Amino acid sequence: MYKIAVAGTGYVGLVAGVCFAEMGHQVTCVDIDEDKVKVMKSGVSPIFEEGLEELMQKNYTAGRIEYTTNYQDAYKDADAVFLGVGTPEKEDGSADLSYIATVARQVAESVESDCLVVVKSTVPVGTNDKVEQFIQDFLINEVNVEVASNPEFLAQGSAVHDTLYAERIIIGTETEWAEELLKEIYKPFNLPIVSVNRRSAEMIKYASNDFLALKISYMNDIANLCELVGADIKDVAEGMSYDERIGSKFLNAGIGFGGSCFPKDTQALDYLAKQNGYELKTVKAAIDVNKIQKISLYKKASKRLITFNGLKVAVLGLTFKPGTDDLRESPSLDNVPLLLDQGADVYAYDPVGAENFAKFYPEGPNRRGSITYVSNVEEALDDANVCFVFTEWGEIKAVTPEMYRGLMRTPLVYDGRNIYDIQEMKKAKVEYHSIGREPGR
Ligand code: UGA
Repeated sequence: MYKIAVAGTGYVGLVAGVCFAEMGHQVTCVDIDEDKVKVMKSGVSPIFEEGLEELMQKNYTAGRIEYTTNYQDAYKDADAVFLGVGTPEKEDGSADLSYIATVARQVAESVESDCLVVVKSTVPVGTNDKVEQFIQDFLINEVNVEVASNPEFLAQGSAVHDTLYAERIIIGTETEWAEELLKEIYKPFNLPIVSVNRRSAEMIKYASNDFLALKISYMNDIANLCELVGADIKDVAEGMSYDERIGSKFLNAGIGFGGSCFPKDTQALDYLAKQNGYELKTVKAAIDVNKIQKISLYKKASKRLITFNGLKVAVLGLTFKPGTDDLRESPSLDNVPLLLDQGADVYAYDPVGAENFAKFYPEGPNRRGSITYVSNVEEALDDANVCFVFTEWGEIKAVTPEMYRGLMRTPLVYDGRNIYDIQEMKKAKVEYHSIGREPGR
């Protein structure tokens, strides 16, 4: 078993650290935020992620994982330091690598024995070569430090499961020593390992995410065309899915992709291409389609209603997908301000995301309208003039057509996740609009 340090305790770092501990490694998670470290030590997860807290507590009690702000102690004799710090998007679409650089320098100045630095964060192709050079430049002791790329493929909401049962582990290394060490670290997971060079590993991450983003934008584009020609995107997707070359996953048309990954990684690859004098037309198209898609329902509703001014607007779902309290690039963040600008009184419901949303839009009057956070679907729908569905949480899927009919002042529903049956809505006399399923109105 190995001594592992993990830098950064966000989705990538914390989940990786906990899963390494679960596999029997000795793990120290490092974060600069003292309050966060305190919280984690008390057995509480700073992020909402199924199964994570249980594993944190189990491995902490077993003495296999600890949390600290003291990076020197954590890095000095670690066999491997995994980097799971953020690489946020800069204004121009490029990735901000300042957190990576900070940790790389801390590692260089702390290590006292041979160490493999493993970059899990998503970084532009070629970054790990630079990180290795950077570490060599700042290295204090005469030890061997190499850098490996090991991109992360977990999805929020199923992060622990995705890590323990990953479809593949990608390792990008430049020496046999690094490759063997990383393979040994991953051995207890018993998962397929694809071993490539560093640049290919970095590219696999972007190429995979952008392919998925492209798949979603493609389906959204086709959905919009379905509305014009009278086809139903759900039926179209089902028919397509039987072709194994297409597959059945990620064919759901909707209100556009959000989250911390697809929007950022499509921008980053587009930027990388431009930097290299190349135009990545397909990825650019995925970005453009998504931008329009996110406000497509708002536009439809604006045409149907004379004004949102003074209307009670129920908003069901705020997070970018179910199973997370993350709001990054969530369609709700594009739509709610438009509604408030128009003077709507928004009643928002989300099982876990409301608190984070209130940081952007505190309860009370806002712009020309107001926002109120409610604790159940019924309160949001009660006497509402119109309802928008932005996230397919279980409790939102469970709303029946009769509830819309019975609770709302005018049963007018705009569903960004295509979760309800059109015929049942019709039967219950609910005016129902979704994406790509009926001639656009
Ligand atoms: C995504 C990838 O799925 C992970 O494999 C990857 O590791 C991760 O990014 C990352 O780079 O860290 P995540 O952003 O957590 O994971 O969420 P997804 O489940 O992929 O959903 C992203 C967005 O696409 C959501 O807004 C979701 O609603 C939307 N989506 C997804 C659709 O609109 N249609 C679909 O068919 C699937």
